Amino acid sequence: MGGAIEEPIDSSDRPFDGLRSASPILRGSVMAELSPGHELERAEEYGRALLNILEDFTGERARAGETQKAILNILEDLDDEKAKMEAANLELRRSNAELEQFAYVASHDLQEPLRMISSYTQLLESRYKDQLDEKAKRYIFYAVDGATRMQGLISDLLLYSRVGSHPRPLLRIDSHAALGEAIRNLGAAIAESHALVTNGDLPLVHADRVQLAQVFQNLIGNAIKFRGALSPRVHVTARREGATWQFCVRDNGIGIEPRHFERIFVIFQRLHSRDEYPGTGIGLALCRRIVDRHGGRIWLESEPGKGSAFFFTLQAA
Ligand SMILES: Nc1ncnc2c1ncn2[C@@H]1O[C@H](COP(=O)(O)OP(=O)(O)O)[C@@H](O)[C@H]1O
Ligand SMILES: [Mg+2]
Repeated sequence: MGGAIEEPIDSSDRPFDGLRSASPILRGSVMAELSPGHELERAEEYGRALLNILEDFTGERARAGETQKAILNILEDLDDEKAKMEAANLELRRSNAELEQFAYVASHDLQEPLRMISSYTQLLESRYKDQLDEKAKRYIFYAVDGATRMQGLISDLLLYSRVGSHPRPLLRIDSHAALGEAIRNLGAAIAESHALVTNGDLPLVHADRVQLAQVFQNLIGNAIKFRGALSPRVHVTARREGATWQFCVRDNGIGIEPRHFERIFVIFQRLHSRDEYPGTGIGLALCRRIVDRHGGRIWLESEPGKGSAFFFTLQAA
C-alpha cells in the first residue's frame, strides 16, 4: 500500500475534477461519455430544487391556511356583528312602529275630548256673556286659545305619525305641480306678508305628490314666517346630481346659527318663543321624515341675518 494515492476510477462523485487539466477536446469527449451520470446529478439537483420549492410551497400553504383561519375568524365576528345589527334594527323598527302607533292613537283619541273642551267653553262664553265680568271672559279666551293651539299640535302630530304608517307608492310626478299645491295652500300667508315666491325649472321626480307638497309648504311657510324687516322673497330651484335632483328653497329671512342646524329637525324643537313666532316645531321634523322615506337627504345653509337655504334630494324619475 506504500502510501500510493489511488485516483478514483469512477469519479462520478466529482466528474470534472479529473478533467481539469485535460484539453477541451478530450474534455468534450469524456463529458459525452460521462453524460448519463451527469444527467443523474442534474436530475438530483432538480429534485432538490423541487423539494425546496415544495417545502416553500408547504410553508406558503401553512401560512395561507393561517390567513384563511384568520379570515374565517373575522368573517365569524362579522356575522356576529351582523346578527347583532339585525337584531338592533328589528328592535328599532318595532319601537318606531310602536311610537307611530302611539302617536296616531294618542293624537286621534285626544281630538274628541279636546273638541268638547273648546266647544263647551265657547258655548259658555256666548250663552253667559252678559253675566260674565271681564276677568271671566279673559279666562275663557285663554281656555279657547289653548284648546285651539292643542288642536293644531294634534293635527300636526297626526300628519307626522302618518308619514310612514299610511304610505302611498312613490310615483313619477311633476315637482312643479307639488309646488303649485303648496303655494295655493299658503295663499293667505303669502298675501298677508306680500311674499314673492318664484321658481326655476322643476323636474319630474320619483315621489309621493302629497308629501312633496307638504315639504314645500313647510319650507316656504317657514321662509315667510321667519322673515326679517324685508318682505319675504322665496326662490325654489332644482339641480341635477347624478341619479337625483337637489332642490333648494332659499329665503331672505332672519337666518339660523349653524349650531342649531341639526336641532331644528328634531320634533318640537324651536328657536323662538310662541310670542315671537307661532308654531309647534313639527314642520322640519315632518320634512325630514318625508325626505327620509323617499331615500333622500335634507340639510341647510344659513347665517343669521343673511337668509337660509334649505336643500333636499329626491330620486329623478
Ligand atoms: N326659513 C327659516 N328661517 C329661519 N329660521 C327657521 C327657518 N325655518 C325653520 N327655522 C327655525 O327652525 C325651527 C323649527 O322649524 P319648524 O320645525 O318648521 O317649526 P315651527 O315652524 O313650528 O317653529 C323654527 O322654530 C325656527 O327657529
Ligand atoms: Mg314650520
